[in-house]
Amino acid sequence: MPKVTIPSLIERKSTGEAIVMVTAYDYPGARAAERAGVDMVLVGDSGAQVVLGYSATAEVTVDEMLMLAKAVRRGTDTPFLVCDVPFGSTEQSDAQAVATAVRFVKEAGADAVKLEGGGPSQLSRISAIVAAGIPVVAHVGLTPQTATALGGLRAQGRTEASAARVIEEAVGAQRAGAFCVVVEAVPSEVTAVLRETLDVPIIGIGAGPAEGQVLVLHDLLGVTEGRTAKFVKTFGTIGVDTVAAISAYADEVRSGAFPAAEHQYAASPEAVEAARGAARRA
Ligand code: KIV
Repeated sequence: MPKVTIPSLIERKSTGEAIVMVTAYDYPGARAAERAGVDMVLVGDSGAQVVLGYSATAEVTVDEMLMLAKAVRRGTDTPFLVCDVPFGSTEQSDAQAVATAVRFVKEAGADAVKLEGGGPSQLSRISAIVAAGIPVVAHVGLTPQTATALGGLRAQGRTEASAARVIEEAVGAQRAGAFCVVVEAVPSEVTAVLRETLDVPIIGIGAGPAEGQVLVLHDLLGVTEGRTAKFVKTFGTIGVDTVAAISAYADEVRSGAFPAAEHQYAASPEAVEAARGAARRA
């Protein structure tokens, strides 16, 4: 498969061929996404919660995200690789945002960065990063990094003011140079308006039909513990399978069934005798 490029993604807006995006946080996840033939891989700051165990995405640092991103880059050849810039790494100034984005490109080999929010300062950050030659994916609707200010992890665009804000922020992000917009937890009707309005493709998550869809890998695999968002569909049972496999291993270690003969190396009688001799002398 040829490497996915920005023009090939933008083209999907007119061809109607859905864009498939999935998150990944490590080499095996990236290899699996590659082999499954997805179009885009996102090193999401959701990794803060699903792989690093933080209580919120806002807690993860740039260095932590870079370590995840580098592992994903090593496993990704064909899909377009997008990295989330974490909370606190762009808020101070356009210069800080550009410096952070440059790190993701130079150190982790990101094809693009993703920025949450479409308020005036975020639009300025998007313009600055795009002007520096780094492609940007915008993210509007529910933006988990600033969920507290939005009243919690809840759907956006359900009131007149909120629906208008989602549209304004997405249009602003496109004007600022974003080549693609992630829209999270927004009513399908609002997404439909956005699809008619924007020239760039929309990747939805809890936003109904769009040019593309994204899910958090651990959610779709069935690894995430506890309650997941309404928009999550689980396609696998890896979480329970993993617990079952570790439990079976633990049972066999405890019973002595593992390791069996086929898992053991054999030594010649001379080597065993040499080992005994060494033990006597030791
Ligand atoms: O961090 C993430 O995984 C994301 C997706 C949910 C879009 O931003």
